[in-house]
Amino acid sequence: MNVLLIGCGGIGAIHAEKIVSGGMTLAAVADTDAARVTAIARKYGATAYTDAEKAMRHPGLDAVGIATPTTTHLKLVEAAARAGKNIFCEKPLAGSLAECEKIVKAADKMGVKLFVGHVVRYFQEFDTIRDQIKKGAIGKPGFIRTFRGGIIPSGWFRDYKLSGGVTLDCCIHDFDWIRYAFGDVTRVFSQHLQRTTPTPMDYSMTTLRLKSGMLAQVTGSWAHPSGFRVKVEVCGDAGMIQYDSGEAPINTNVRQTSAGAPTMIVPASPVPVSPYQLEWEDFAAWCTTGRKPRVTAQDAVEAVRIGLAALESAKSGKPVRLN
Ligand SMILES: NC(=O)c1ccc[n+]([C@@H]2O[C@H](COP(=O)([O-])OP(=O)(O)OC[C@H]3O[C@@H](n4cnc5c(N)ncnc54)[C@H](O)[C@@H]3O)[C@@H](O)[C@H]2O)c1
Repeated sequence: MNVLLIGCGGIGAIHAEKIVSGGMTLAAVADTDAARVTAIARKYGATAYTDAEKAMRHPGLDAVGIATPTTTHLKLVEAAARAGKNIFCEKPLAGSLAECEKIVKAADKMGVKLFVGHVVRYFQEFDTIRDQIKKGAIGKPGFIRTFRGGIIPSGWFRDYKLSGGVTLDCCIHDFDWIRYAFGDVTRVFSQHLQRTTPTPMDYSMTTLRLKSGMLAQVTGSWAHPSGFRVKVEVCGDAGMIQYDSGEAPINTNVRQTSAGAPTMIVPASPVPVSPYQLEWEDFAAWCTTGRKPRVTAQDAVEAVRIGLAALESAKSGKPVRLN
């Protein structure tokens, strides 16, 4: 499968590596930043473009990967759909439900496949937790607590209008996984401490009520002095499952300043096949064999719906009902 990857920043560099290790061909790469795109193109022997729409005309492409800031997803998905290419788009699908709908419509209209990178579904730890609970390991689950975050990322992430802050950009992983593992969300209540001065930080806590009656508490932090950590705890009537990324692999966290630090820290995984590779393999299998992937475009829309409801709740101070 010949892939064009658009966006060679923090996550784009990881996607480039995983496209290749997953057995696909990175035929072309595009980024408005000439130095970045040239470096990735050289590393993988791909053709470099600074104009994404021009890159979509590269001969022999089967799919387009989009790893650019969230506000650019709509325009790039529409262009890729017009070009008739299957699409892998990073999460959050978009920053508004109206944009999400346009994205889904654009793909449907052109009959192309739209996959969204909700990678936590492919993290082996999360998959094992879901699996164990489905097998009854902790009886009937009642409560979920998740934590995700660390240092505040730099660049466009700090413009909360562009990124949606930690709640939409980061907690969306947990919103999606909770829906995937435990079903639909009916009510959302959230508070956040979101600021740009004197030092930028964003910390949020969101309570979800699920259709099943379960309660979930999702904490997101872009307020830590360094590092990145993920925690999950699920309590059932016969036991508990807990995971803390800080206790699994060996971790060294050094205090970092923004200068020279990556724009966003992507969690490391000690397992042999990276979840970022697994999601590309799932997308490729959908494109080549028709096997349905773990994530649907509608799942991605629902995750944005929960994230936006959390932001609305934080603004109004009131819970938001869904469904
Ligand atoms: N799944 C994950 O674990 C994960 C982690 C980090 C980021 N993300 C998501 O991936 C997306 C990108 O995030 P990032 O951390 O890589 O950001 P980044 O700022 O590090 O990189 C974005 C890149 O896109 C390029 N770009 C911007 N507009 C462009 C355009 N119109 N055409 C071509 N190139 C363009 C920029 O020059 C930059 O190199 C975001 O939606 C983010 O939320 C997902």
